[in-house]
Amino acid sequence: MAKGDVYKVLKEDHENVKELFKQVIETGNTSKFPEIKKLLEAHMISEENFLYPPMEFVDEELVKKNKYEHELAWNKLLYLENEQGDKDWMENLKGLNNIILKHVQREENELFPKASEVLSEEAEEDMLKLIKEKKSESL
Ligand SMILES: [Fe+2]
Ligand SMILES: [Fe+2]
Repeated sequence: MAKGDVYKVLKEDHENVKELFKQVIETGNTSKFPEIKKLLEAHMISEENFLYPPMEFVDEELVKKNKYEHELAWNKLLYLENEQGDKDWMENLKGLNNIILKHVQREENELFPKASEVLSEEAEEDMLKLIKEKKSESL
C-alpha cells in the first residue's frame, strides 16, 4: 500500500457505480438496482465512518456539504427500495444518479485532494484497511 491508494479505491467505487447507473438508465432494465444499492451503501458508510470524521477538523463546511449529499442519496435509496414498480421509479433513479454524479465530483476535486494533503500515510492505510473490511462484510 502506498500514499494515495485509499482514494484510488474510493474512485474505483465511483466508476463502478456510475457504470451501473448508466446500464440501468440506458437499458431500462432495473435488475442491477440491488447491486447499485449494495455498492453505494457500503461506500457511503465507509466514508461517513472513516473519512468524514477526520476531515471535519480540517474543513467542516466541505464535510457538511458532502454529508448533506449523502443524506439526499440515502433518502432516494430508501424510496427506490420501497417503491419498486412505482411509475416515477426511473425518474427517481435518474435523480439519484444526478446527486451521485455531482457528489463524486466534489469528493474527487475537493475532499480527496485535501485529505491526501493532511492525512498521514499511516492514517490512509488504516482507513483503507477499514474500508476493505467493510466491503468484504457487505458484498
Ligand atoms: Fe460520498
Ligand atoms: Fe465517494
